[in-house]
Amino acid sequence: MTKVFIDDKAIDWPTQQPLLDVLRQQGYPVAFSCRSGVCQSCQVRITQGTPPAAAQAGLTVAQKEKQLVLSCCCYSEQDLGVSLYDPREEQVTAEVLSVTSLADDIIELRLRAPVAFHGGQYMTLWRDAQTPRNYSIASAADDDHLSFHIQVRPDGQFSRWAKQLSPTDHLSIYGPLGDCHYQPEHSERPLLLAACGTGIAPLYAVAREALAKGHSHNIHILYAARSAARLYWRKPLEQLAQNHAQVRLDCLILEDPSEGKRKPANVYEFVRSELTGLQNHQIFLCGAPSFVQKMRKQCFMAGARPRQVCFDAFEAGR
Ligand code: FES
Repeated sequence: MTKVFIDDKAIDWPTQQPLLDVLRQQGYPVAFSCRSGVCQSCQVRITQGTPPAAAQAGLTVAQKEKQLVLSCCCYSEQDLGVSLYDPREEQVTAEVLSVTSLADDIIELRLRAPVAFHGGQYMTLWRDAQTPRNYSIASAADDDHLSFHIQVRPDGQFSRWAKQLSPTDHLSIYGPLGDCHYQPEHSERPLLLAACGTGIAPLYAVAREALAKGHSHNIHILYAARSAARLYWRKPLEQLAQNHAQVRLDCLILEDPSEGKRKPANVYEFVRSELTGLQNHQIFLCGAPSFVQKMRKQCFMAGARPRQVCFDAFEAGR
């Protein structure tokens, strides 16, 4: 049992318990979302002792210099002093430009905010101090707005609220974060972009940024969904493929063979049977964790190199 010191209090800290739970049990309002080191909404500052390396995985140099840690991943065998940290200290206020329905349960939220970004990165959007959510950026760096495709579920605390937003409303945003975006070293490689659900939104932005930067190699987009009706972003992708000869689009159905039409009904089977020799490809994967996990495995079996695979796995509809 170690101790955590905060506000002149010494609190018992069972070694198997994450710091997030210890602080929340004591009534400290540390925000959280994913509980797995991805969303970065649970940051606290270490004021005494050495920040555990595992609790700083994925943080930037600047965040580490501030002695920040992700409390959901913070375990320690030494006593630590901590203070609360609100990432919204570095928030930016964004103005709502529009909320548009893209499908029965998917909206596009467009925001105006003074931030530089790349399509494929993600940002934290705040409904209030306790309700942050991360969403991937669906607009490209040259666009004059931020765009997010948000799946709305009946129990989605953030998404249901976002659906009600109106132009000129404001919300706090933080970021951008993440490196799942087109970078100069990708210019020499063919790209494979594979997504399911709203994961297609950031990868569409990645493709647009690559084309805007003169990417000359092939760009192969795999867009998977559970039914043809769920391929809500098919038309913009088809347009992109029509306008650029190097873009190939394959729309695939994950479960229903009757809707697979000319393509194999299973995206993993498709990768297994039709994609080989991915050694030189730069690969981007985005979607539900199970999809990303299976696709990574298939890509590695087809020769992909781990450092050339960017991925962003998320649970939709929060
Ligand atoms: S709760 Fe998401 S990183 Fe800790």
